[in-house]
Amino acid sequence: MNELKVKKDFTDIYIQDSPCSYLKEMDRLEYFISDSTKPLYNSIIQQLEETVSRPINVLDLGSSYGINSSLMKYNLTMSELNDFFLNGTEPTKKEAKQFYEECTINDNMNFYQIDISEEALKFSEEMNLCERGINIDLETEKLNLLESLPKIDVVIATGCVGYIGHQAFSNLLKVIKNRQSNSIENGKEYVAPIFAFSVLRMFDMKDIKEVFEMFDYSVVKSDIKPIRQRSFSDSKEKAQTVSILHDMGINTKKYEDDGNFYADFYIAKPKN
Ligand SMILES: C[S@@+](CC[C@H](N)C(=O)[O-])C[C@H]1O[C@@H](n2cnc3c(N)ncnc32)[C@H](O)[C@@H]1O
Repeated sequence: MNELKVKKDFTDIYIQDSPCSYLKEMDRLEYFISDSTKPLYNSIIQQLEETVSRPINVLDLGSSYGINSSLMKYNLTMSELNDFFLNGTEPTKKEAKQFYEECTINDNMNFYQIDISEEALKFSEEMNLCERGINIDLETEKLNLLESLPKIDVVIATGCVGYIGHQAFSNLLKVIKNRQSNSIENGKEYVAPIFAFSVLRMFDMKDIKEVFEMFDYSVVKSDIKPIRQRSFSDSKEKAQTVSILHDMGINTKKYEDDGNFYADFYIAKPKN
């Protein structure tokens, strides 16, 4: 997506062995969207819990250092993560593991994570934030690693759409369709997963919506107010983002004009 060029490049902090640089920069930019998407994902999971008598399998796209899992499975907040990782000297892996072990774990969900960053996934796996991390570029077709996953109930993505576009969703849905269409679980036919994800308002959803339609999904933008993602890193990032939004006919008065990126929340469900 061309709009991505407007955003500050964070590649260097996505690929460190430790999450500290990532959390430090996100704290500086007040990136707290994961606190806001947590209850939205949790409410979908709670509804599924009523229909499935096993832990809910969550696939987190662009999971980074297992941020969503830290918040949802380990009941933490961004500010608690920052307090632990950013106060004083950088914790060792042993200390970090102990930190997570002392949290209340929600056994009702299992996380599977995908990220292009091998380092971030390694950290997440070592901390038991996920059952398995899959190190792939979602934009490429090589998603056969997904074949070995258990049945996925919910696919989530916070702050990742934009890095990934319609091609990634098409690749994923192809694998899911192949895997799930002819499979049976406990005598019942597999139900395709629900997708729930945040998308910055400046990213055009047209192509992604078309892909979901092609795979017999209906996509709806949630009617909640746009969610604050993070502050702009500088005036150029703000000006270019606001200009893109105005070109799209989107009013920025109550939102981006205040100096922050805002995201919409989408839910895609299989039609049948
Ligand atoms: C803004 S971070 C979001 C991290 C996490 N979800 C959160 O909210 O804190 C975006 C993540 O997407 C990952 N990513 C970017 N392009 C990707 C791709 N093509 N395939 C898989 N992951 C990708 C990055 O490595 C990074 O970890």
